[in-house]
Amino acid sequence: MKSKLTSGASIFHIMTELSNKHGAINLSQGFPGFNPDPRLLNLVCEFIKGENNQYAPMSGIPELRNNIANKINKYSGRSVHPEKEVTVSDGATEALFSVIMGVVHPGDEVIVFDPAYDNYVPAVLLAGGTTKHIPLIRTNNRPDYHIDFQMLKESISKKTRLIILNFPHNPTGSILTKSDLEALEEIVSHNKVYLMSDEVYEHIVFDGMKHLSLASNDALWQRSFVVSSFGKTFHATGWKVGFCAAPEELTNEMRQIHQWSCYSVVTPIQLGIAKFLETYPEYIDTLSDFYESKRNLFCSLIKNSNFSFQPSAGSFYQLLDYSEISSENDTSFAEKLTKEIGVASIPISVFYDDPPNEQKLRFCFAKNDAVIEQAAEKLCQL
Ligand SMILES: Cc1ncc(COP(=O)(O)O)c(C=O)c1O
Repeated sequence: MKSKLTSGASIFHIMTELSNKHGAINLSQGFPGFNPDPRLLNLVCEFIKGENNQYAPMSGIPELRNNIANKINKYSGRSVHPEKEVTVSDGATEALFSVIMGVVHPGDEVIVFDPAYDNYVPAVLLAGGTTKHIPLIRTNNRPDYHIDFQMLKESISKKTRLIILNFPHNPTGSILTKSDLEALEEIVSHNKVYLMSDEVYEHIVFDGMKHLSLASNDALWQRSFVVSSFGKTFHATGWKVGFCAAPEELTNEMRQIHQWSCYSVVTPIQLGIAKFLETYPEYIDTLSDFYESKRNLFCSLIKNSNFSFQPSAGSFYQLLDYSEISSENDTSFAEKLTKEIGVASIPISVFYDDPPNEQKLRFCFAKNDAVIEQAAEKLCQL
């Protein structure tokens, strides 16, 4: 357990350092290369200049919780109680941590689908639980990297306490379909398990497809913690403001940890986001198109390169397969790409407990078009 928690710097830090050292274009870490909407920046500045700089309530500013509840209603058709079922968190990270610490007890098992975002496992270990890893299945049909429900069914035991989902998915860009939700409903209805759904890329879905939140399904909602991040939605990852929506009883479990670890989240930013959501509700509907054009730009520029890929269905990541270029393992190939070609990425193996031998790298395309063009030109040299 200890080694997993103390295994040194994360790959995101390592690749960013390497990228800086070699003056490479950094498409490794998942942060946007542009500022939030100026109207949002102005609102936050106004709230800072006004007298709004003291502690916020533990569960979040009421205006923000109301707007989050309205947003969930609009996009998932779920009516949630803003006071009892919504908690504003210190980024999605803190919500994910508080959920895991709140519901996982020593000896409990948690199911994680690999490749998986790297925050989940350490939190489970800290809670005294263990993780069971199930690979997402590859097909040539979209969405790629989907859940094998037979395998999920067979993996659930009496010890299983929590299943962690993340769609739109980091690092593969996969999304959930309606039949996925139905299959999940069928499986969990026979088991006493909770679901934690990491939906931080909920508003970034492409090609006319829709994000399906676990909140949209009656049976799943009853046992779900739905977590999201305004960092991704508003190009403001440094603000670290997210939220967790869950039925009252579950919210109470999560808040037991939230109130003692983080307590409350930065006041003027909560107020600014609340006002922005209320005043410019159309902003969110522009986000998928904004990122889809960036995905299209990146994919069209590397279409004739020696990388192969399936266009991402959501999130702001694109996986590229380099098996036509090299048989080297992904970590050393990513290092070489950073040092010699000048583009930093993340090797997919870091997202696995037991990595398959895949030649794949994750590239973040949340960058200005000129940066995407320069990076693609470099990648086409290979
Ligand atoms: C899948 C996933 N979940 C959670 C987070 C963390 O979100 P936040 O920055 O709001 O803590 C990230 C950030 O990259 C992510 O990709």
